[in-house]
Order: sequence, then C-alpha cells, then structure tokens
Amino acid sequence: MSQPVNDLFLRACRGEAVERVPVWIMRQAGRYSPRFRAVRENVDFLTLCKTPELAAEVTLQPIDELGVDAAILFADILLPLEAMGKELIFAPGKGPIFPRPVRRREDLAELHRPDVEESLGYVFDALRLLRRELAGRVPLIGFGGTPWTLASYLVEGGTSKHFEHLLGWSWRDPEGLAELLDTIAETSVAYLSAQIDAGAQAIQLFDTWGGLLDAERWNRIARPPLEKILHALAGTVPLIYYIQGGAHLLATVADLPVQVLGVDWRQPLSAVRRIIGPGKALQGNLDPTALLGPVEEIRRQAKRLLAEGAGGPHIANLGHGILPMTSVEHARAFVEAIQEGPAG
Ligand code: CP3
Repeated sequence: MSQPVNDLFLRACRGEAVERVPVWIMRQAGRYSPRFRAVRENVDFLTLCKTPELAAEVTLQPIDELGVDAAILFADILLPLEAMGKELIFAPGKGPIFPRPVRRREDLAELHRPDVEESLGYVFDALRLLRRELAGRVPLIGFGGTPWTLASYLVEGGTSKHFEHLLGWSWRDPEGLAELLDTIAETSVAYLSAQIDAGAQAIQLFDTWGGLLDAERWNRIARPPLEKILHALAGTVPLIYYIQGGAHLLATVADLPVQVLGVDWRQPLSAVRRIIGPGKALQGNLDPTALLGPVEEIRRQAKRLLAEGAGGPHIANLGHGILPMTSVEHARAFVEAIQEGPAG
C-alpha cells in the first residue's frame, strides 16, 4: 500500500512554498526514548551504528513516536575517523575517546585514505534499507562533521573543555593542522557522496565547535576544508551547515554555498535572518532545556519560534541535540505545537 509522501522538509530546504513549517529534532533517535534504550540495552553504541537493521530500526522510532517531518540516519560524525585508521572507543558515560590522538604533523602518517565502501559500507546499507522502509513517508537526512569539528575530537582525543591541543597546534604549526583538515575533507567528500548515492536526500554538516574561532581565524582555518566538501557536493542534495556557539560568526558563514543554516538558541531567528539575509532557509533553534519545562510553556515557546522564523523559509528544530533527560511527551508536545501552526 502506498503511503502519502511528506516532502515538506525538502521543499523548505530549497526555499519553496510550504503549507506549514516542517520539524525534526537533532539527536531524535536517542537515549531520552525508552524504545531507544530498549534496543541499546542489548548492544553497544558502535555495534548499533554498524548493524544496518538496528540502525534503521532506531532511525525510524522517532518518526512513529514523535511524528517528525524528517528522518536522520542513526550514526555518528566520528565514524569516518575510525575508518581513517584511528581507534575509536565509546566508553559508557564518558563519550568518545581516541586513545592515540593526532597532535603533530608526524602523526599524520598514521592516517590513511579509506575505501569508504569497504570501511563504512554499513552506513550506506542502512541508508538504502531506510529509503525502502520509509517509501517517501518523510525525507532521509545523511550527515557528517565539519573537518574542524572532527579534528577537535581527533586532536584532543575526545571531548574537551579548553581544546588546548587543537588550538595550540593552530598557533604553532598552522600548515600541519591545515594538512590534517584537508585530509579529513577528502575522506568526507567520498563518505558524503556515497551517502547521497545510497539515498540520503539532504546532508547536514555539524560544526559543533566552529564557534571556538573568531571570524578571521574561522575564515583562514575552518573555511577552506569545509568549502572543499561543499563545492564537491554542490548540485546534488540540499546542504545544511549547523554551527553551535557561532552567533559571532553569522555574517562570516552567511556566504557558504549551502541552502540551510542551522543555529543554536543564543540569538532569535529574526536576528539571525537580519544578519544572513534572505538567501537561505534557517533551521532551529529552541533551547533544548526548554523541553524540560511544563507542556504549556513548551507550546508557548514553539509558537514564539514560529513567529521568529516567519521572515523566511524555516525548518523548526532544537538549537542543539535533545537532552537524554527529556520526556517523550514533552518532545511530542514541541513537534505537535509546531505542526499545528502559529494559530493552533
Ligand atoms: O540525530 C540523530 O538522531 C542521529 C544520530 C547522531 C548521533 N550523533 C548519535 C549518538 C548524530 C547526528 C550525532 C552527531 C554527533 N556526534 C555530533 C554533532 C552534534 C552535536 O551533538 O554537537 C557530535 C559532536 C558527536 C560526537 C559524539 N557522539 C559525542 C560527543 C558523544 C557523547 C555525548 C553523548 O551524547 O553521549 C557521542 C555519542 C552518541 N552519538 C550517542 C548518540 C545517540 C550516545 C551514545 C549512547 O547511546 O550511549
């Protein structure tokens, strides 16, 4: 039986007319959901990512459970770094760890350019499976990290507070760091192109730590490897650039060749729109902690978000990933309040 096709998200990405603002949630397949935790109980995180049937199963959970307007592949931005030869561990409660970080030019010799079909084929299998199972119900988003954000984990060896290894390298040996970023960009082009070939209908690039840099250094260090990816993918599917903590960089990123700019909650969308102009759709940007408040307040915030975004194409989302302590009911209240529209 054929199901109705919901392509609101893709139309909004392209700046086309939509009947209502589409909504999805970053990290929508995640630990806040008891259904996700039930799957996760039996399998560690990396195995879940590498088992296409399971990755597809948890990708679909929020489509049924929350009624969101897009699916995002269940995977992680760090997987291509593992494919480049760096051991990656997800220690329970500790987040990602690279036991042998890349910290100097000499360390670059340990990285290789992977055959992505061979080392990351499980991602493409999951995407193909998902396109079949979704059958047009909602569009499917693929993703990766920006070279700068990926390097932050690879150089620090995991999550960091001050990023002293990465930032220290950027001052000490900018050419060496540029070589690392370019190597990551090359693998990212192959990885993301293969995601598109396998059925990803949009690609989001997560720049979680782009905001560490001032505009001049962002342009000099982070932009060239990012643009290498964006130019290679141009003309394929809609591209989304998401930056966290980047309010001071909005004028800088406004000219990136992407259709959608994703932002955190630190500025209202009306202010973001004034800075970046009319040319892109905006994605975001409710503070994820707002979902910890009462349902009435969540609904008020959702309506406020619609009003803030009304100056141009808008895809509603949180400003960063949903927090594990969020209840499913509250996540659903956000999605429903957006889908009712401003008056509901
Ligand atoms: O959005 C989705 O539902 C798709 C899945 C997804 C995950 N990670 C699954 C995940 C996506 C899009 C990501 C992106 C990602 N991964 C980013 C960029 C977005 C952001 O949050 O800023 C980053 C920085 C990573 C790296 C990463 N992965 C970290 C720092 C951590 C530990 C923090 C945490 O939340 O536990 C992870 C682990 C991770 N990635 C989990 C999930 C569901 C939790 C692991 C678990 O289930 O034990």
